[in-house]
Amino acid sequence: MKKTVIAIAGVAMFGIGTAAHAASGEDVYKQVCFACHDAGVAGAPKIGDKAAWESRIAKGKDILYKHSIEGFTGEAGAMPPKGGRTDLSDDAVKSAVDYMLGKVQ
Ligand code: HEC
Repeated sequence: MKKTVIAIAGVAMFGIGTAAHAASGEDVYKQVCFACHDAGVAGAPKIGDKAAWESRIAKGKDILYKHSIEGFTGEAGAMPPKGGRTDLSDDAVKSAVDYMLGKVQ
């Protein structure tokens, strides 16, 4: 687990250097994802809401990355690809997912 996190962090850092808008997962969250995930807009699971994230985390991180990058329509609502910011690098989106998951673990 630790190894995976370190590997992802390394990849994310590499991505940041090449993508103009990309920054830390926290920055991406605060610029993009917060719009829905702070207040639970449109059925989005709220940041820090363990009950809302439990079943999602159970799907596995790779699925959550995939759904965040490609978009996902579930029972609660629709998650737009990259939160609507398709100019973000995949790695920037992944680091935002890591940031969000860090708030419920
Ligand atoms: C326009 C609103 C909106 C924005 C912006 C948004 N999301 Fe979401 N997100 C949703 C909704 C709604 C869901 C729940 C979909 C469902 O389960 O029905 C969701 C679900 C998710 C999930 C869980 C997916 C799953 O498989 O259960 C993750 C992870 C996620 N979002 C990450 C992000 C990240 C990272 C960003 C910023 C890059 C972001 N979201 C921006 C609306 C949004």
